[in-house]
Amino acid sequence: MRNRVEVLHGVNLDTLGRRDPEHYGGITLQELEVRIKRFASELGLEVRFFQSNHEGEFVEYLHRLPDLADAALLNAGAWTHYSYAIRDALEIAAVPVVEVHLSDVQSREPWRRHSVFEGIVAGVVSGEGPDGYRKALAMLKAQLDGG
Ligand code: DQA
Repeated sequence: MRNRVEVLHGVNLDTLGRRDPEHYGGITLQELEVRIKRFASELGLEVRFFQSNHEGEFVEYLHRLPDLADAALLNAGAWTHYSYAIRDALEIAAVPVVEVHLSDVQSREPWRRHSVFEGIVAGVVSGEGPDGYRKALAMLKAQLDGG
């Protein structure tokens, strides 16, 4: 059964709870992970979590991804907007990925409107806060069930 989803939190996501509440609410990463775990079990998915502020470490983790998971849910933080290294590593990993943002990146600063992952992710969920992770997991489940 293909149901293992890796939830990848990128740069600065470990500081949730201290970031601008207007964009991110008050939830901490730990609290977010509790909610994601609950969403996952409702959908019959198994989740693991990884967070790093170090791009090279993140890339090396992505190299191991095919051994660890069947699919991934990715909030890469600011790397979303400029890290071609992470884009390449996702292509190498070649597992279905859904990109998530807590905030509505399209309605913020212009530099946040572009994602380097465009074209290689199965979907994007943005601006729905923690509930967006549920939607993203459901999208991944549909991918896993369909293929
Ligand atoms: C973010 C949006 C990014 O632009 C930002 O750099 C983040 C978080 C979000 O979840 O809304 O760190 O990915």
